[in-house]
Amino acid sequence: MIDKNLRNINYMRISVTDLCNLRCTYCMPVQGANLLRKDEILSFEEILKVVKHGVGLGINKIRLTGGEPLVRKGIETLTKRIAELDGVNDIAMTTNGTFLKKFARTLKENGLSRFNVSLDTLRPDRFDEITRGGSLRHVLDGIEEVLDAGFQGTKINVVVIRGKNDDEIHDFVRYIFERRIELRFIELMASGWKNMVDEERFVPASEIKQQVEKIGELTPVKQRIGGGPATIYKIKGALGSLGFISAVSQPFCDKCNRVRLTSDGMLRSCLLSGGEVNVKEILRSDILDRTDLAEQLTNAFVQVTMMKPVIHSGRNSAVMHQIGG
Ligand code: GTP
Ligand code: 5AD
Ligand code: SF4
Repeated sequence: MIDKNLRNINYMRISVTDLCNLRCTYCMPVQGANLLRKDEILSFEEILKVVKHGVGLGINKIRLTGGEPLVRKGIETLTKRIAELDGVNDIAMTTNGTFLKKFARTLKENGLSRFNVSLDTLRPDRFDEITRGGSLRHVLDGIEEVLDAGFQGTKINVVVIRGKNDDEIHDFVRYIFERRIELRFIELMASGWKNMVDEERFVPASEIKQQVEKIGELTPVKQRIGGGPATIYKIKGALGSLGFISAVSQPFCDKCNRVRLTSDGMLRSCLLSGGEVNVKEILRSDILDRTDLAEQLTNAFVQVTMMKPVIHSGRNSAVMHQIGG
């Protein structure tokens, strides 16, 4: 599908649940969020219908996100069924890593292509503080399991927060020296539940890059597994690579190739702005026969593609655990 700005929309990000075992300070309020009821969430059959339809229209890359996708029961089965579809070239998952030790090998067998793991700090006490109760050990062990299981193209997401983890840039660079991982420093975005940009906590990618450049010379990398919104560099002597996601200071909307499916069945044109179409309503409508259903799903995809904004406003905010980051 080609949108009005000639962007080729071939990538669908699917949030399979709004639930998460963690409560990262920038993503969820302390008391947890207003969570959806079970019948409000799309079933696997419903998700598969939307995916199959999308694949027929040119989607070839899928990402499973959350909340935390590994807390959805049966996720390994959904992964297998999507991976088996003709036309899906790449199926990845964004996870907080807590349950990777348990799931990595099964997901490898079931056809998952790769993982992006969120990891904002390498210090146990800070991890506990930022995630409100998470265990750093579980995530680090999970990442080793992913590497041992033979996954390629593993990425780590570090959201940089001033006064919280911006003094750990050196430690992260050291971490990727002996691991074949692409680590991305991410600018903090406005958080949907607070509905504001946290100006005091925000660190621009340019500032992080300056810090990294003090450690070693950076050489730009062009070809990467799975592509993505980050600008990536090699640093001399390291097995891994480093990147920067500057969604706020330098939006990458001109290269955006995504649509999103939320856990409650909205097909969304953009993480931050633009519109959405309720596909759950279409899927659950009992008046439609198969041909009508197909036609309405096609319309939904076409509408959402056309709704994609030319550029988002960096000041908009998204409810990350529902839309899937
Ligand atoms: P791949 O390129 O497939 O590896 O995916 P990715 O790097 O986009 O995925 P990931 O889920 O790891 O997201 C990394 C960061 O980019 C997160 O902080 C997201 O919130 C942000 N991000 C992802 N998609 C978008 C988008 O469409 N717009 C904006 N502004 N930010 C995004
Ligand atoms: N700003 C930037 N990144 C965020 N994520 C979640 N909330 C925010 C935010 N407010 C990231 C997570 C995860 C990815 C899917 O989105 O850290 O790695
Ligand atoms: Fe959970 Fe990811 Fe949100 Fe953290 S950022 S609370 S791990 S959904």
